[in-house]
Amino acid sequence: MKEIDPARIPRHIAIIMDGNGRWAQKHSLGRVLGHRKGAESVRATVKTCRRLGVPYLTLYAFSMENWLRPKEEVRALIQLLREYLDGEIQEMMDRDIRLAAIGDLDSLGDPVRTKLQEAIDKTARNQGMVLNLALSYGGRDEIVRAARNLVSDALAGIIKPEEVTKELYRRYLYTTGLPDPDLLIRTGGECRVSNFLLWQMAYTEFYFTDVLWPDFREQHLLEAIADYQQRERRFGMTSDQLCRT
Ligand code: FPP
Repeated sequence: MKEIDPARIPRHIAIIMDGNGRWAQKHSLGRVLGHRKGAESVRATVKTCRRLGVPYLTLYAFSMENWLRPKEEVRALIQLLREYLDGEIQEMMDRDIRLAAIGDLDSLGDPVRTKLQEAIDKTARNQGMVLNLALSYGGRDEIVRAARNLVSDALAGIIKPEEVTKELYRRYLYTTGLPDPDLLIRTGGECRVSNFLLWQMAYTEFYFTDVLWPDFREQHLLEAIADYQQRERRFGMTSDQLCRT
């Protein structure tokens, strides 16, 4: 197992869980079974993050673009989410995990939306870790939605154009109240961001691995964190400047 420095655990880890379909194909199974196996990796990853003391974990569970997949697959993904919420709520309570969600949640439909809200409400006082699920989420859509609400507030006289700053803009994003991710992990071998947290990842460290999401376990997470801990985050400054701060 990789050695990691417990004093420098990323505050916020975001994960693009890719490779369920390929995992299924590799094992001569249907795509849905790949997602089902992927849900096991979700459980394992949440557990490890909680144990390591990661304060925020955001998982890209369903993108806006995923609605374009075959109806059966979409239905299965929504069903898996329902099962996950049913099965994990007690675990979240036991482990002091607060559930949050970002995205166009209303588009998920009433039954799952209600279940999600119940889980969010039930875990609202938990303080050990925030598990944030990105559901029907798209980064550009989030930015457009924020702009729309901001313009609407400006027209209503609630804000003035000169008051629009990065800090104010943040308050209109789904992620208001969450810190930006320190580390993005993408499994499945692709090296792109796929419309995920576009505003928030301005200074995020990226880690790409060929491991398919259903195979992703504690050792892989530790490898990603160890890699992150070797990087020097300069936020646009020089190394010398960083040494002096
Ligand atoms: C990408 O794999 C993964 C998804 C589109 C969905 C992620 C969902 C899960 C991990 C399971 C359920 C989640 C929760 C929170 C219970 P892909 O299908 O694009 O894989 P491929 O690129 O190999 O085809």
